[in-house]
Amino acid sequence: MNRILGFVILALSITPAGADQAADRAKQIVNEKCYLCHGAEGESSSAIYPRLAGQHAEYIAKQLADFKAGRRKGTMNEMAADLTTEEMAALGEYFSAKPPQAHRVRDKEFEAVGYYLYNKGNSYSGVAACKNCHGDEGKGTKNLPRLAGQHKRYLVSQLQDFNKRVRTNDNAVMHSIASKLTEFEIEALANYISGMN
Ligand code: HEC
Ligand code: HEC
Repeated sequence: MNRILGFVILALSITPAGADQAADRAKQIVNEKCYLCHGAEGESSSAIYPRLAGQHAEYIAKQLADFKAGRRKGTMNEMAADLTTEEMAALGEYFSAKPPQAHRVRDKEFEAVGYYLYNKGNSYSGVAACKNCHGDEGKGTKNLPRLAGQHKRYLVSQLQDFNKRVRTNDNAVMHSIASKLTEFEIEALANYISGMN
């Protein structure tokens, strides 16, 4: 019985994976694990978990590979441990296809400080404008994360982690930027960015 089952599984796994198959597998993994924290639609259940809806597929796959290899550390190491390269790519496609939603920003003046920093940086302390890399609308690119609409608390935690070098993967650029940001600037940026559409 087990041998037959084993053969069937082997036969399935050597069949070239079509796009549909990959999408089904991603959906299955999301419903088994990821939904708990990131939500089935990529809208996280809590602001401490990053929103994945609308994030670039390539960026998601890269972060998963970094978590798996231990280059980036945290809760996700265990979640990514068993994922194959194909599954990581499929999970990226799955979440990037979900529509992201912006947050409503309550403090407009604080948001305006964030707007200034995002678009112009801080020439007095040597902080580069975020838009130079993450784009005018915070939509990012294949290699750069989308920031628009991300949860405020997650943004704050990542900027702090980049500063303290707790976020260990590819952190050279963001470390140099985050190390020059004050707590006030981090909060203002997170306010503005979370409200971007
Ligand atoms: C127990 C909660 C939990 C579960 C379950 C979980 N994650 Fe995460 N995930 C996190 C946390 C927390 C972070 C933020 C990084 C950190 O602090 O470790 C994160 C970060 C990520 C990131 C990086 C996002 C970014 O913007 O850099 C990706 C991609 C991701 N998770 C994908 C997944 C996928 C795919 C699954 C299912 C296989 C999953 N996660 C399951 C908690 C979880
Ligand atoms: C010179 C290019 C560059 C500039 C300027 C820049 N960033 Fe980044 N940022 C990056 C790169 C590259 C990454 C991805 C790092 C990785 O792959 O782990 C990143 C990642 C991030 C992340 C993590 C996103 C996530 O989903 O986990 C945040 C938050 C962030 N940047 C905020 C900012 C803010 C705020 C500014 C402006 C003060 C800024 N960045 C300016 C290149 C830049």
